[in-house]
Amino acid sequence: MKTIFTLIYFVGISIQVLAQDFEPNYEEGKVPEYQLPDLLRMENGHLITNKRQWSNRRAELVEIFENEIYGKSPVWDGQISSKVILENKDYLNGEATRKVVKLTLKRGEKSLDFNLLVFYPNSGKQVPAFLGLNFYGNHTISSDEQVAVPDAWIRNNEKMGSFNNKASEKGRGQRIANWPYEEILTRGYGLVTMYYGEIDPDYEDGFKDGVHALYSERKREPNSWASIAGWAWGLSRVMDFLEGEDWIDNKKVAVLGHSRLGKAALWTGATDERFAMVISNNSGCGGAALSRRAYGETVGRMIEVIPYWFSDSFKVYNKRENDLPVDQHQLLALMAPRPLYVASGAVDKWADPKGEFLSCVAASPAYKLFGKVGMPATVLPPLDQPVMGTIGYHIRSGGHGLLPYDWQQYLDFADRHF
Ligand code: GCU
Repeated sequence: MKTIFTLIYFVGISIQVLAQDFEPNYEEGKVPEYQLPDLLRMENGHLITNKRQWSNRRAELVEIFENEIYGKSPVWDGQISSKVILENKDYLNGEATRKVVKLTLKRGEKSLDFNLLVFYPNSGKQVPAFLGLNFYGNHTISSDEQVAVPDAWIRNNEKMGSFNNKASEKGRGQRIANWPYEEILTRGYGLVTMYYGEIDPDYEDGFKDGVHALYSERKREPNSWASIAGWAWGLSRVMDFLEGEDWIDNKKVAVLGHSRLGKAALWTGATDERFAMVISNNSGCGGAALSRRAYGETVGRMIEVIPYWFSDSFKVYNKRENDLPVDQHQLLALMAPRPLYVASGAVDKWADPKGEFLSCVAASPAYKLFGKVGMPATVLPPLDQPVMGTIGYHIRSGGHGLLPYDWQQYLDFADRHF
């Protein structure tokens, strides 16, 4: 009996300790003092003063992010084939084309399919486009039953109609408001999306599924690619395909993502400079937000709960954000001189809106090297008042989500820069 009580006592204590560990800080006054790693100083101490030197610093930073945070993705050495599964050239009263294209990535005996949902205006001209991954399947962005429900593993969500990790018809059309393709098309842009779980299923699978399986013969190293890098790598493969499409202006493709997929969009923009614009919607910790502020979600909490998003080497920074050799402003700076938009939701405190904004400010010196103004503001702008330099930012009323208001700003930002 005594041992049982002792056991209960110790389990109780450890739960308390864990709960305390995970208590996020939402008080600005409790943000620790911090100093950001110097953006324009090489690891050897040399100060960067022009854009030519920046290319060395940029390469060095990419390598640090690869080795310490996201992991290094393989160079693609396979073949991609495509097959049009569905095509409607008379979509929206003939104004647009909508199609589903299956890409097959083949590497030796291994292969993996990606299903793209593609919309573009029938303007007869090559158009700029947005490319973004979706959370619950292409059918959630279409009311047309011909757009298939994905087969891949999916997170359970009653509203989205996914049960037992399988998607279903119940999710059809549920995310159309979050992907306002009619408005996007009317404004003269194309849209390409696919379900992110077809690239890498979002659970701890020991990297046996998705894109990692294409390279299963390689031994994993502390700096091997994990899930965020996998999603980013998948977006680059979609870009490989888009480069050969005749409807798209492939020098004007914006990669966009919300939340964990915002983290992935940023890593895509960092590793693949073919993307001419990068948009991070509520990407938070491990995305646009400064890690050293430890406000809302922290590096430690991510390492405990979702370690498979990051390389194994990242684990040493649990509760040690000050020891990180980089902070996230340096990730944002990797987009320079390309236009970058970062958006927050006012009550999405978990993603640290202020930390996302300050990160844009701290990334701006890299833009200056190119004669561009990155983020024109230095204090957090008022709600719903976007600020747009070559870096754009808004803090929208409301919470976590990719909303029509966000899209309005992205379209305006694209109009300015494309
Ligand atoms: C969790 C996670 C965040 C992530 C978010 C999302 O909240 O902690 O890091 O951004 O999920 O992807 O919706």
